[in-house]
Amino acid sequence: MAKLWGGRFEKATDKLLEQFNASIGFDWRMYAADIKGSIAYAHALEKVNILTVDEVTAIVNGLNAVLEEFDAGTFAFLPSDEDIHTAIERRLSELIGEVAGKLHTGRSRNDQVATDMRLYLLSQIPVLHEHLKGVQRAIVDKAEVHLDVIMPGYTHMQPAQPILFSHWLMSFFWMLQRDVDRLNDLTRRVSVMPLGGAALAGNTFGIDRAALAADLGFLQTSENSLDSVPDRDFVAETLFWAALLQTHLSRLSEDLIIYATAEFGFVELDDAYSTGSSIMPQKKNPDSLELVRGKTGRLVGNLVALLTMLKGLPSSYDKDLQEDKEPLFDTLDTLELELPVLAGVISTLRINAGRMASALRDDLLATELADYLVRQGMPFRQGHHIVGQVVRVALEKNCGLRDLSIADYHAISPHFGDDVHDVLDFRRAIEQRDVPGGTATKAVQVQIKRAKELLAF
Ligand code: ARG
Repeated sequence: MAKLWGGRFEKATDKLLEQFNASIGFDWRMYAADIKGSIAYAHALEKVNILTVDEVTAIVNGLNAVLEEFDAGTFAFLPSDEDIHTAIERRLSELIGEVAGKLHTGRSRNDQVATDMRLYLLSQIPVLHEHLKGVQRAIVDKAEVHLDVIMPGYTHMQPAQPILFSHWLMSFFWMLQRDVDRLNDLTRRVSVMPLGGAALAGNTFGIDRAALAADLGFLQTSENSLDSVPDRDFVAETLFWAALLQTHLSRLSEDLIIYATAEFGFVELDDAYSTGSSIMPQKKNPDSLELVRGKTGRLVGNLVALLTMLKGLPSSYDKDLQEDKEPLFDTLDTLELELPVLAGVISTLRINAGRMASALRDDLLATELADYLVRQGMPFRQGHHIVGQVVRVALEKNCGLRDLSIADYHAISPHFGDDVHDVLDFRRAIEQRDVPGGTATKAVQVQIKRAKELLAF
């Protein structure tokens, strides 16, 4: 099979280079985008009288036939099919003959591939949205069902203050909501059409780019062919978006892995989302969550690979750009499998409220004592210092803050009244924090309500 660009060459391409040069092994998945772009382009060529109505009909029917072959899995690749664009054009000419050769008039694979990548990504964004929402929905549902559960909140992985389990869980909803926002925002920049930029300098035949963009569903056309043909900012943004999302998912997984340990026992993963050990019969491992955590290296790596490839590229198209695809496709594939798995892990998770309650240590209430002194008019810093002394006395006596007597408190500071034990209550500590965004039940209910509204559209 002759090469698309074979005319000026005397010798055949080295076999290994042919293999090295080929992208068909991974870019074939853009077949629908490529055909969609070509159909629209054929119509654009007709409007400027490069193609007759009959020629367009032949090309469009031929392209639809090729599409059917791909959809049915019957498309036969040849070793000479360098990439998806070449493969489709080769098959089109087999089906409709010489007129197929008119389709590429004024177009280059450079603006074609940039257009295909954008169209392909635009087709995947709604899928990502749905999967992301699935995880968010699982979070909100769990948070709502277990609204009464109290757990220790940690900073530095040390017990800090009591919080609602739902407050902890909902914190991840909001991280993911920012990811949803970022995805919406970057979609605008994916939706810019480079077609008409040709190889680098622009289309020679006066095609109506605005009409072409509207036909293909792009929001706008690009402003400068030299910029837009090699522009892969939209890939970089998507990979950053994914890397940050993945970082959030990894942190959620890490928390859950810790909470699922025998030592914590706050949660238990469903059997369907755990795996066993080949040697230790007692083991039930959180492999699902470990893989989510582990995939982070891969997704961050894909971002770094792309940015490193882009850095230092001379103006306009260079073949380095073919290396944009695998990082993007790998990231999309990873997320499209991982997000539904994670949604399943969360929705089947068992919550052990008893284990969380027994992990509520008195020192989680130390801040309540400092706040008590503040309400007596004492500056917080001074109150903090005095409560530090209370904590030390409790340590010396090897007892909890609630076990110290009124006399013990009085001895440390006369500002402690007879009612000091009233503030040493986990539920009270939680309900005190009823500021918007706080852990009080009412405030968490507001979060959940707001979250459900966001999920509704
Ligand atoms: N497979 C190529 C890529 O992915 C298509 C563009 C080829 N352009 C060229 N001038 N060789 O970038």
